[in-house]
Amino acid sequence: LWSVSEQELEEYLRVLLVPVRECGDIISSAISSQTNVEIDLKVENKEEGNSSSVLTQTDIKVEKHLIAGLRGKFPDHKFIGEESSSETEELGNAPTWIIDPIDGTMNFIHSNPLVCTSVGLTVNRKLVLGVVNCPLIGKLYSATKEGGAFCNGDKIRVSGVVEMSQAMMIMELPVGASKQKKDVGMDNVRYILDNAHALRAPGPAALDISWVGAGAADGYFSQSIHSWDMAAGALIVQEAGGSVLDTTGGDFDLMSRGIVVASSAKLAREICSFIKLLPTPRDQQTPVHPL
Ligand code: IPD
Ligand code: CA
Repeated sequence: LWSVSEQELEEYLRVLLVPVRECGDIISSAISSQTNVEIDLKVENKEEGNSSSVLTQTDIKVEKHLIAGLRGKFPDHKFIGEESSSETEELGNAPTWIIDPIDGTMNFIHSNPLVCTSVGLTVNRKLVLGVVNCPLIGKLYSATKEGGAFCNGDKIRVSGVVEMSQAMMIMELPVGASKQKKDVGMDNVRYILDNAHALRAPGPAALDISWVGAGAADGYFSQSIHSWDMAAGALIVQEAGGSVLDTTGGDFDLMSRGIVVASSAKLAREICSFIKLLPTPRDQQTPVHPL
C-alpha cells in the first residue's frame, strides 16, 4: 500500500491546479476563436447517444497537456484518461490520476459555456483528491479526503433537501440514443415531472455532480458515464456532506458506469428506488469502492 501525508496531498493539489488552469485557457480560447469543431464520431458510443459520441482536437490536446504536466512532476504515478483509456490496465494501488479533459464536449462544440475539466486522484484505490474546473463560468470545485469541498477556495455544502417535492433534479437527456435508452430516459423524466420541484439537463456529468455538492442542485443520477466523469465529483459531494451511492442503492462503485448523488441520504434512496436503468458494460470487471 502507498501512503500519502496531508502535506503531500496539499502539494498534489497545488501542482494539479497549474495545468488545470492552463487547460481552462486552452478551452476558453478554442471557444472564443471558434476552433471547437467536431473531428470524429466515436462510433462505438453511438447507441449511448449524441453527447457520448462527439470528439474534438481540443479534447486530445487538453488531455495530453494535463498528463504531460503531471507525469513531469510525478513520474511513478499512473493515468486513466478518457482519450487514452484503451491503453489502461485495471485500477491498482498506485496513485492514479483519472482525467476527463473536456466533460461536456457536446456543449463545447455548440459554444455553450458549461464545459469542464475533471481530474480525480486515487491512492490505494480510494479517492483522495478531486478537481472540476469550469473555466467559462469561473468556477473551480475541489475536494481533498477529509479536507472538505470548496468552490474557488470557499467551503461548499449540499443543500440538505430531503423531499423530492423540494428537489431540483438533474439528469442527462439521451438525445440520439438507442430506442431502449430513450424509453428508459422518458420513464425517469416522467417520475421527476410528477414528483420533483424542478428538472435541469446542463450536460457535463462532472459539473452536474459538483453542483449537488455546492447546493446548486439536489439530485443527479446516471447509468452511462465513466470513471473519469465521476471520480472528482464523487469526492466533492461526499466532502460537501452529500450522499453518493451506486444506482442499485449499494456502495458507490467507480467502475460500474453508474452513480446517484443527492443532498441527503433520504433523497438518494428515493432516486435509487424510482430510476429505471439500462444495464451498461462496466469500465472494468473488478469493483472499486473509492469512498
Ligand atoms: C459526456 C457527459 C454527459 C454524459 C455522456 C458523457 P463527455 O461526457 O458527461 O453528461 O451523459 O454520457 O459522454 O463525452 O462530454 O466527456
Ligand atoms: Ca470528455
